[in-house]
Amino acid sequence: MTAKILDGKAIAEELRNSIKDEVERQVAQGNKRPGLAVIMVGEDPASQVYVRNKKLACEKAGFKDVSEVLPASTSQEEVLALIDKLNADDDVHGIIVQLPVPDHINPEEIIERIHPCKDVDGFHPYNVGRLATRMPQLMPCTPHGVMTMLAKTGIPLRGLNAVVVGASNIVGVPMMLELLNERATVTICHSATKDLAEQVGRADLVVVGVGIPNMVKGDWIKDGAIVIDVGINRMDDGKLCGDVEYDVAKEKASWITPVPGGVGPMTIATLLENTMKVAYQLDC
Ligand code: GUN
Repeated sequence: MTAKILDGKAIAEELRNSIKDEVERQVAQGNKRPGLAVIMVGEDPASQVYVRNKKLACEKAGFKDVSEVLPASTSQEEVLALIDKLNADDDVHGIIVQLPVPDHINPEEIIERIHPCKDVDGFHPYNVGRLATRMPQLMPCTPHGVMTMLAKTGIPLRGLNAVVVGASNIVGVPMMLELLNERATVTICHSATKDLAEQVGRADLVVVGVGIPNMVKGDWIKDGAIVIDVGINRMDDGKLCGDVEYDVAKEKASWITPVPGGVGPMTIATLLENTMKVAYQLDC
């Protein structure tokens, strides 16, 4: 079987266009533009690219960009004070702090300081708890973007054997919760998992987010499985590569996400979607 391509670039573009249209509709009715604050501390090169792309997408969708780039020397107290200011600002509907932060900054304290109703990354323990108790409000962008892509296949998730590889707070754990809430039978694998190949081999749906190039081998994939690759790894030759051995996996899967152009573009589109929901109280 040769897999159908789950085209994240096209799905994200469609989502961004519908968000842009909704913003213009709301503005025409006298409502504010959604305001998004992306805070970056320091100069992590990968973060600089992500933040630039987030700002660009924000402007294209007609949002107000109130992002702040702070020097690496910024103290914990200064970041907390900025968050307090943004929490109190009625023009700001979403606040995110780009991770990773420099070593002297405590990310947990920063995330908890963001008001849960402006936490458009869905990382605040309040929003994690809402998702874990099946009362989701703001959900982490990458896993929620994956759910949007899966909906496009038309395949019901109920009862599928889903295997999530990687147990991070940003991808693996919220992905597990989202799939569980759709009644999939979910296994989550991590660095202490024995027989990863065996776990992956019995999955109807595999979602991989570990950040290790080609870690999941193509011949582990069950015939007809759906393969979602969240990894984006830059190789020595400058090319991007996922966490799944794509060329082999695509001959076994029914659906597969490419890298680049798969999950990546969905993260930013979902960030805009979350921010718009807050701005217009669509369901927050
Ligand atoms: N670093 C990598 N992914 C993310 C994300 O989704 N949000 C934030 N804030 N930082 C990240």
